[in-house]
Amino acid sequence: EKGNHRHFMQKEIFEQPIVVAQTLKSYLRRIDDCVSMPDMEFDLAGFDRVSIVACGTSSYVAMIGKYWIEKFARVPVETDVASEFRYRDPVLGKNQLAIFISQSGETADTLAALKHCKAAGLKTAGIINVPTSSMAREVDLLLPTHAGPEIGVASTKAFTCQLAVMAAFATRIARAKGVLSAAEEKDIVHHLSEAPEAMNFALGHDEDIEAMAHKIAEARDVLYLGRGPDYPMALEGALKLKEISYIHAEGYASGEMKHGPIALIDDHVPLIVIAPSGPLFDKTVSNMQEAQARGAQVVLISDADGIAKAGEGTIATIEMPKVHPLIAPLVYAIPVQLLAYHVAVAKGTDVDQPRNLAKSVTVE
Ligand code: F6R
Repeated sequence: EKGNHRHFMQKEIFEQPIVVAQTLKSYLRRIDDCVSMPDMEFDLAGFDRVSIVACGTSSYVAMIGKYWIEKFARVPVETDVASEFRYRDPVLGKNQLAIFISQSGETADTLAALKHCKAAGLKTAGIINVPTSSMAREVDLLLPTHAGPEIGVASTKAFTCQLAVMAAFATRIARAKGVLSAAEEKDIVHHLSEAPEAMNFALGHDEDIEAMAHKIAEARDVLYLGRGPDYPMALEGALKLKEISYIHAEGYASGEMKHGPIALIDDHVPLIVIAPSGPLFDKTVSNMQEAQARGAQVVLISDADGIAKAGEGTIATIEMPKVHPLIAPLVYAIPVQLLAYHVAVAKGTDVDQPRNLAKSVTVE
């Protein structure tokens, strides 16, 4: 039931601190500050390549997972949308782990990719929300998310729970590979367990975001920019906005702006910039300022330091708490989701059942 919420999507956005905490609880062992995983019949140290395959919003978790696994475990990762994976006849090696991410566990393309990898003799792992689903039954290693049933067609809480599991898994692979010390693991566990509180704080901006949504709702096109893990977050922001508000939106890696999309910029195009302060911040801000010089209406999502440095000349800023880069995607997902939600409500669309979309895509 929706409780006091107007839509399931809104309820599911607000549930995130609780369901992410619930999910983390089954992967973080607080007695010794270790990541703990279900028993597995294979040794993670034996893999020297990882493939991650998923569709839609789940595929953005794959992309963020690539940053994390490569950074922490120093294992090369390739990511594919499932509908492309089989048809490019991927080179599959024995020492390759294949990870599949799905809320429903029934998405036809992802399930077919999973069967393809199994037939090729690969070990498979699945980050899956529905424990009784086809994919949950097929994978060698099931890493469940504990988001509970997701009713809104647009994925929200499943996404952040998938991120939580992916972060834990990246840490576990890094430990198995011997490239992460116990102290570093402890540090990661601490940061991850701070995520739900930071997400709660982010939810506190609901009303400010609602207030600015009316302006965005008038736009015909919206661009999202981010760098590093915030690039998949920009893709997610654009997908969420287009699917529920029907406004055309695109996400770009900040550095790609000048390779084409900047031609779209004029003073009617809102530009949503996702840029926590940190080593990548100045570069993203310089891309943002190039767009501002051409009239872009910038909404900057950053922390207090970032906003103090670059908030001038924007039409709005959304201030996130200052968080460790590892948990930033979990926290920054919230303003991105709330913005799409409030724009859709302002436009009067059917938020929980957007046109032409199904919750579970069981045909290719
Ligand atoms: C977007 C959305 C879809 C799904 C995609 C994959 O909000 O919900 O893009 O993420 O259809 O679905 P699952 O995760 O069930 O495989």
